[in-house]
Amino acid sequence: MTTDQVEPVAATSPRLTVIGTGYLGATHAVCMAALGYQVLGVDVDAAKISRLASGEVPFFEPGLPELLVKALESGRLRFTTSFPEAADFGDVHFVCVGTPQRAGSFAADLSQVEAATTALARDVRRRALVVGKSTVPVGTAARLADLIRSVAPAGDDVELAWNPEFLREGFAIDDTMQPDRLVFGVSSPWAEHRLREVFAPVIGQGSPVVVTDLQTAELVKVAANSFLATKISYINAMAEVCEAIGADVHDLAVALGLDARIGSRFLRPGLGFGGGCLPKDIRAFLHRAEELGVGHAVAFLRDVDEINHRRRARTVDLVRELAGGDLRGVRVAALGAAFKPDSDDIRDAPALDVASTLHELGARVRVFDPVAMDNARRAWPALEYGRSTFDAASGADVVVLLTEWSQFREIDPAALATVVGKRRIVDGRHALDPARWRAAGWEYRALGRP
Ligand SMILES: NC(=O)c1ccc[n+]([C@@H]2O[C@H](COP(=O)([O-])OP(=O)(O)OC[C@H]3O[C@@H](n4cnc5c(N)ncnc54)[C@H](O)[C@@H]3O)[C@@H](O)[C@H]2O)c1
Repeated sequence: MTTDQVEPVAATSPRLTVIGTGYLGATHAVCMAALGYQVLGVDVDAAKISRLASGEVPFFEPGLPELLVKALESGRLRFTTSFPEAADFGDVHFVCVGTPQRAGSFAADLSQVEAATTALARDVRRRALVVGKSTVPVGTAARLADLIRSVAPAGDDVELAWNPEFLREGFAIDDTMQPDRLVFGVSSPWAEHRLREVFAPVIGQGSPVVVTDLQTAELVKVAANSFLATKISYINAMAEVCEAIGADVHDLAVALGLDARIGSRFLRPGLGFGGGCLPKDIRAFLHRAEELGVGHAVAFLRDVDEINHRRRARTVDLVRELAGGDLRGVRVAALGAAFKPDSDDIRDAPALDVASTLHELGARVRVFDPVAMDNARRAWPALEYGRSTFDAASGADVVVLLTEWSQFREIDPAALATVVGKRRIVDGRHALDPARWRAAGWEYRALGRP
C-alpha cells in the first residue's frame, strides 16, 4: 500500500494519541496520520518533540522523514509534551514508551510505561481505549488496567488493550502499513471493535488479525522474539561445532535453510543479534518466567544469550589470530557500528561491543558506519572514526566487517587492497564471497568456516 492510495478516513473516526515518540512511536504516529487519522504525538523529551514538530526524524528510518513532512503538512499530525492535552484529544491512546533492561537485573524496567500511563489516565474524563504497544512482561497489562481504573476520572469507562508491535527498524513503514499480522489483546467486544476500526485500512489490505486476551497478546511478542533469537543462536552454535572439526557453517546453513520446514531466514551465521529488542526481551522473559515459577520452561534462553555473546568474543579472537596473536598497536578497520544494517540504532550493538573490546586490548580501532556515526561517537568517544570505508581502512592491519550494510557487501576487494597495510579481513557477518576476496590476495576468515 502506498500512502497516496489511502482515502482519508471518516471525520467521525477515532482521534489517536501516540505516547512515546521513539523508533516505534514516531513511526506509528506518522503512519496513522498517513492513513488519514488525526494524531497527537506525546513525549516527555521536549527536544525530541520540537524536532519532530519541525519535520525532523531524530533517528534513521528510510522513508520516514518524507512521510513525516507530508503528515505535518496535512494538518493531521501534531506533537506535544502535554498529557492533559492528549487526554482531552484522544479517543484511542497508544502507549509506545521504552521498556529497557533494568540495571543490574534481567528484569524489564517498566517505569516509563507506568509513568506514561499514570500521567495520561489522570486526565481522561470520557470513554477511551488505552492500547499498549510496548514490549512488556506478561501480566503487566492486567496491572495497568487496574492502575488506569483507579486513577482515571472516567474510571471503568477507560479500557486497556494490548497490541504488540513487530516492526523491524529499516522496514518500519512497510511493517506498520502491511504487517504480517495484527494481534489484538482485549477484555471486551467494544475494545476489539475499536481496534478493528482504527486498523481498518491495514486490515483492508489483507493483514490477518488474531484476537486474544491481554496476557496472550503480551506473550506473543516475547515468544516471537525468543524464537528468532533461538534460531540465530542455533546456527551460531552449529558454527562452534564446525570450528571444532573444520566444517563450513555457511554451507551447512544453506543446506538447512532449503528445508521448507526450517527456512533460511534468521539462519545466517555470524556475530549474532543485538539492538534495543531481542537481547533485553529474552532476558526479561527469563526473569518473568522465573517469577511465574516456570523458569525451567525457558531456561534454554540463557544458552541462547550466552551463545550470542560468545560470537562477539570469538570475532575478537579471529582478529587477534589474523594479527599474529597480539592486538597491541594493531590497526583495525571496523566496518559497521549499528546493530544491523538500515538502522542507526547502536543499542547493545555487537559491532561496537567488538570494536571497543579490540580497543581495550590495545588495538587502534577506526570505525566507519554509513549512518550510525554520530550515535557511535557519542557512546564510544575513545574509538577513532573514519570518513568513509576507505578512510577507515587506510593503513589497516586487519579489516573486520561487523554490520552487513550493502555498501560493505559491494566493496571491491582489489580496490580496498590498495589502501590497507595488510590484506586481512574478518567477515563477521558472512556477507562477503571468500573466493573473490582470496583471489584478490586477501587472507579471509569468518566464524565457523575453515
Ligand atoms: N524499536 C523497535 O524496532 C521496536 C519494535 C517492536 C517493539 N518495540 C518496543 O517498543 C517500545 C519502544 O521502543 P523504542 O525502540 O521506540 O524505544 P525508544 O527509547 O526509541 O523510545 C521511547 C520513547 O518514550 C519516551 N518516553 C519515556 N518516558 C516517557 C513518558 N513517561 N511519557 C511519554 N514518553 C516517554 C522517550 O523519551 C522516548 O522518546 C519498547 O518496549 C520496545 O521493546 C520496539
